[in-house]
Amino acid sequence: MTAQLIDGNVVARRLQDDIQQQAAAFEEKHGYPPGLGVILVGADPASQMYVRMKRRACKRVGLHSAAIELPEDATQEEVLAAVQQFNEDSKIHGILVQLPMPDQIDEEAVLSAVSLDKDVDGFHPVNIGALAMKGRTPTFTPATPTGCMVLIEEAGIDPSGKQAVVLGRSNIVGLPVALMLNEANATVTICHSRTPDASSYIREADILVAAIGKPNYVKANWLKPGVVIIDVGTNKVDDPSAEKGYQWVGDVDFEGAKDIAGAITIVPGGVGPMTITMLLSNTLKAAHRLAEG
Ligand SMILES: NC(=O)c1ccc[n+]([C@@H]2O[C@H](COP(=O)([O-])OP(=O)(O)OC[C@H]3O[C@@H](n4cnc5c(N)ncnc54)[C@H](OP(=O)(O)O)[C@@H]3O)[C@@H](O)[C@H]2O)c1
Repeated sequence: MTAQLIDGNVVARRLQDDIQQQAAAFEEKHGYPPGLGVILVGADPASQMYVRMKRRACKRVGLHSAAIELPEDATQEEVLAAVQQFNEDSKIHGILVQLPMPDQIDEEAVLSAVSLDKDVDGFHPVNIGALAMKGRTPTFTPATPTGCMVLIEEAGIDPSGKQAVVLGRSNIVGLPVALMLNEANATVTICHSRTPDASSYIREADILVAAIGKPNYVKANWLKPGVVIIDVGTNKVDDPSAEKGYQWVGDVDFEGAKDIAGAITIVPGGVGPMTITMLLSNTLKAAHRLAEG
């Protein structure tokens, strides 16, 4: 068996083309484009790169973007003031606070200060709370987990009635994706660092979402034939044969898994491109909600 390869670049391109058209129509109607405000504290190179990528993506699809950059030693008050500035800025419809923040910053207080109408990253406690409560619909859901769900749908899989295993329980990926799979009526098991034998759960999975940050952790012989694998893991590993001396791999042994799985995301190029696309989509949605109610 050779798995269907889930290519996030292809899906993201198609969705971004659609967002571009809708953004142009929005600007035509309202006289201004949808806008994203990004807050970056400190000089972490990875965070700086993510912010650059997000702003470039905004430009590509015709969204306005603005950034407030604060130094590593910024105070809580300065970060909250930056959030307030974007909350009050009528050109900004979505606010993204780039995480993680330096230790002196209370992240929860910062995320709670983002206007609910502009919470395009879906991390405001009210939106996360709504995700966790039956019968409540969050206004916005976090980008990476939403991207995972879109890719499952693209693979033609309805999670309802399926056994889903989520490896990892972080606030930004594992936990929200588990809540979304539960909402989609899968039977969900979450495995984490204290799970004694994750492989015993993975063997039962019809859907596996891996988000632990451990290269090639999931072995091919743990997999149920036909399983749909969404590999969020993005791990840089040394590879002397590669031009750059390294390569990116996921949390699942792709080479072994592709002969057993029904469908599997490619790494890189699977979940990564979807994350930015979901952020753009949420920003467009926020602009429509703010402009049209
Ligand atoms: N493509 C994208 O857009 C995107 C976006 C976000 C993240 N990522 C990638 O996704 C991966 C996870 O990111 P994250 O931010 O969620 O990581 P994180 O905050 O470090 O969380 C890792 C999670 O994995 C669990 N874990 C660690 N070792 C484990 C093991 N051996 N077995 C089972 N669970 C284990 C941890 O359990 P405990 O809770 O018990 O510590 C934790 O819940 C990383 O590779 C990251 O680069 C990709």
